[in-house]
Amino acid sequence: MNKKWWKEAVVYQIYPRSFKDSNGDGIGDLRGVIEKLDYLKDLGIDVIWLNPIYSSPNDDNGYDISDYYSIMSEFGTMEDFDELLDEAHKRGIKIVMDLVVNHTSDEHKWFVESRSSRDNPYRDYYIWRDGKNGKEPNNWAGEFTPSAWEYDEKTGQYYLHLFSKKQPDLNWEHEPVRKAVYEMMHFWFKKGIDGFRMDVINLIKKPAGLPDSKLAPNTPYGYVYDGKLYANNPGLLDFLQEMNRNVLSKYDCMTVGEAVHITPEIAVDYVKEDNKALNMVFHFEVMDLKENFDLVRFKEIQQKWYDGIIPHGGWNSQYLNNHDQPRQVSIYGNDKEYRVLSAKLLGTMIHTLPGTPYVYQGEEIGMTNCEFESIKEYNDIHARFKYDQMVKKGMSEEDALKWLNKYSREHGRTPMQWDDTENAGFSTGKPWLKVNPNYKNINVKAALADPNSIFYHYKKLISLRKNNEVMVYGDFKDLLPEHPQIYAYTRTTAFAKWLILLNFSATEIDAELDINAEGKVVLSNYPDYKGKGRVAHLRPYEAVILEL
Ligand code: GLC
Ligand code: CA
Repeated sequence: MNKKWWKEAVVYQIYPRSFKDSNGDGIGDLRGVIEKLDYLKDLGIDVIWLNPIYSSPNDDNGYDISDYYSIMSEFGTMEDFDELLDEAHKRGIKIVMDLVVNHTSDEHKWFVESRSSRDNPYRDYYIWRDGKNGKEPNNWAGEFTPSAWEYDEKTGQYYLHLFSKKQPDLNWEHEPVRKAVYEMMHFWFKKGIDGFRMDVINLIKKPAGLPDSKLAPNTPYGYVYDGKLYANNPGLLDFLQEMNRNVLSKYDCMTVGEAVHITPEIAVDYVKEDNKALNMVFHFEVMDLKENFDLVRFKEIQQKWYDGIIPHGGWNSQYLNNHDQPRQVSIYGNDKEYRVLSAKLLGTMIHTLPGTPYVYQGEEIGMTNCEFESIKEYNDIHARFKYDQMVKKGMSEEDALKWLNKYSREHGRTPMQWDDTENAGFSTGKPWLKVNPNYKNINVKAALADPNSIFYHYKKLISLRKNNEVMVYGDFKDLLPEHPQIYAYTRTTAFAKWLILLNFSATEIDAELDINAEGKVVLSNYPDYKGKGRVAHLRPYEAVILEL
């Protein structure tokens, strides 16, 4: 297996709006990130992935970009960005930016031009079609809107937007669009950034002819949401390879493509080294389990992505939450009496499964989901649309709110909890989004003061990765694929063999392995380990790494 820095790295994701506000306007900003670089250095991470920081009217919090070459005024200035990059690099931390090129904002100058007349030179930068029988050009549903099409009076045509109507999709078939995107990527690389996380990158190639979905209407508005039709279309790999040839191959960078509706069979073509496209993708097969988490199914997914990608010279990512997801400890762990133990267990797993681990801000202190009292407290365009959809389908408003309070992505966006002072030390002003009231107990200051905190467990996991190749490159073997409560696997190189044992339940349990379950404890979330011979004895949410 080829060694690469981005395989060995730990990535820390920052959602700048909610990380640290430096000037009291209630919105996190780049100077806030600079203030906290020493904290991140202490944690030990290698790479920061910044969610979009470009100019944006914020219909979708920065994923609707109106200018790829300037910084969102609320976040600061280009000087602040240059300083952030410089200060991060001084500390040995790399910076990966978000690349959002499936769509722009409708306020981007390309779209302003494009919609101004049918013969404007920018018309073909976007996807315009005539209506059919007085209706949309096809039956596609949008992610944030009933239909994926919006009628534009001025020129009498519809434009495609797979997300909000303020996020028109770019027309990647049109060469000038691709050239403009590559030029913009060069601009950021020349500044010295270290890579891109590519937003919904497998949607940029639309199916030829934009056909109707053949599925029955599956939204309460009569349109069809058909992820398989939108994603991974023939020709996508050509676009990715062209981007690689023209831009990525010229820099020592890392890339991770957010890829919706994908399986390893499809992804392998995008990530295998020989194909020269991407380094790895974020898939959604684990995320799709969140409403009915099942450990056996989870293990199957891990095995499938290992077998389907790694032997072919590709690479994987490992994550359980981000800015689009609820908090991992509230979904896959136990955010009540076992919060600390289960947060450590989840961290142990993500850092020992094969692939590059991604830590989302606040995960390292076990931040949890937040209870919102009414739909009015929700800012997120997706949460609000989802709520309307559920209610329209006949769910009570109370149940719809309950659903959001468990599964919405807003939980990942509440401000970072730095200390127990007002607004969790995030801002001296009124935060743009509710602060989780549990900040009095769950905060960075408290974590740093407690040697048994989740923070220090993460710090150890991250430093272990630096000194133990087995954690990065070791072969992976699942020892108990059918076990409903215990995940037991080995990582093996010619020089080391590690056994990782994780009890996903609140009950104490014995499990018999077909190898010796005793060894030197490398890291554990309990003070001791009680396995004997081939029997692993695990207490609630026990997570242990043994060197055999
Ligand atoms: C991605 C982003 C998400 C955004 C969407 C549209 O899924 O992670 O936050 O809403 O793309 O850009
Ligand atoms: Ca601010």
